[in-house]
Amino acid sequence: MNLVVAGTGYVGLVTGICLAYKGNNVACIDIDEDKINCLQKGMIPIYEPGLEEIFMNTRIKGKLNFSTDYVNAYKNADAIFIGVGTPEKHDGSANLKYVYEVCDKIADTVEKDCLIIVKSTVPIGTNDKIEKYILKNLKHKVNIEVASNPEFLSQGTAVKDTINAKRIVFGVKSSRAEMILREIYRKFDLPIVVTDLKSAEMIKYASNDFLALKISFINEIANLCELVGANIEDVAKGMGYDTRIGGKFLKAGVGYGGSCFPKDTKALHWLACDNGYEIKTIKAAIEVNELQRYKLLKLARERFSTLNNIEISVLGATFKPNTDDLRESPAVDNIKKLLLCNAKISVYDPVGGENLKKVFKDDINIASSIDECIKNSELVFIFTEWDEIKNYNIDNYIKYMRTPIIFDGRNCYDLKILKDKRLEYYSIGRQPVINL
Ligand code: UDX
Repeated sequence: MNLVVAGTGYVGLVTGICLAYKGNNVACIDIDEDKINCLQKGMIPIYEPGLEEIFMNTRIKGKLNFSTDYVNAYKNADAIFIGVGTPEKHDGSANLKYVYEVCDKIADTVEKDCLIIVKSTVPIGTNDKIEKYILKNLKHKVNIEVASNPEFLSQGTAVKDTINAKRIVFGVKSSRAEMILREIYRKFDLPIVVTDLKSAEMIKYASNDFLALKISFINEIANLCELVGANIEDVAKGMGYDTRIGGKFLKAGVGYGGSCFPKDTKALHWLACDNGYEIKTIKAAIEVNELQRYKLLKLARERFSTLNNIEISVLGATFKPNTDDLRESPAVDNIKKLLLCNAKISVYDPVGGENLKKVFKDDINIASSIDECIKNSELVFIFTEWDEIKNYNIDNYIKYMRTPIIFDGRNCYDLKILKDKRLEYYSIGRQPVINL
């Protein structure tokens, strides 16, 4: 079977490489020539642990190729995956521009019967609309059908999440579409949920939004823990043992970021409103997350009479560890606000430095180590729990900083270790340590 994946962004690229790794012939198509050139030379444009290894393995076996020539690829395809982005519009709804651009090209070029498989996260009802749209615009007399096959991969563990996924969802209208999808995934020994198109689309949104809600819930409990003198780490641990609750996504912090949760919560909220219904829980999750993001900044403003000219270090800039992605990163938003306060900012991130430079140019200093970043600074913010930051020697804050005042947005350090240190330490859902 000839498979084509449209879009070599995060979802498209990981999907394409993993499908090829599992024995399919895959052509990955993108309009971005630089990206395709880079992939043709064997370089991966994103940071994703484990991806390079299987990329090399599949390239050697000749199962995978990259091209901008969509005409040739679509013409001979048995199935085309759409894996392009669906970014957020100003009103919170999903922007389907890129999806429809691919649909136009598919309608113009397919010359044999083809299954169009939508991986991109699209609002409920979109797959039906896409099918009608392509059928209306088809240039050649062929049979096409649209299926939904949402992705559930997380950045940093994308390969594992695809190859050892918890489940695979097929949203289909016919047994033929189901059969083709089963054939593509024949070597994945995973639970498969077969359903209709709309339910498949909803599974994706409901899954992401539930996790976002779980994070916002624990963040609110953390905020209350601070007020009543409880410890969120212990509370989350105690809750997590209950398998009905589960211990994952109970990590309190400065809120969720990334390319999915912020966008997908707003998109579902928008979609519900558009259907005359308000999902109150999701609305609350969005509000909580927005407030949580600036929680430590608010605290720092109370601690210091002004942040004007204060030397501030920021440790961790990506929206979570093990990715170089800065999208919707709490660090980026906080740095923007700190710059407005006229603070002098030095940032260290193990891999996000290059991307930070693109966003902030010369407005911030990008340090090449934690030591360098915190030297002489008056306060430190921690926004991402990279292992390097979690394993950093606490005594170095005392040694290098002018005043060792730490605002830790990811609870990187054990309070028991900090309690006798000569520093000030504020974290999330735990009592501060004030020894200065
Ligand atoms: C998410 C989903 O997990 C994945 O299934 C979906 O396909 C895409 O969206 P991703 O955005 O890569 O994946 O990251 P994830 O690990 O889910 O984290 C998202 C955000 O939530 C990060 O900013 C992270 O720091 C935050 N988070 C996560 C918490 O604050 N607490 C937690 O307990 C878990």
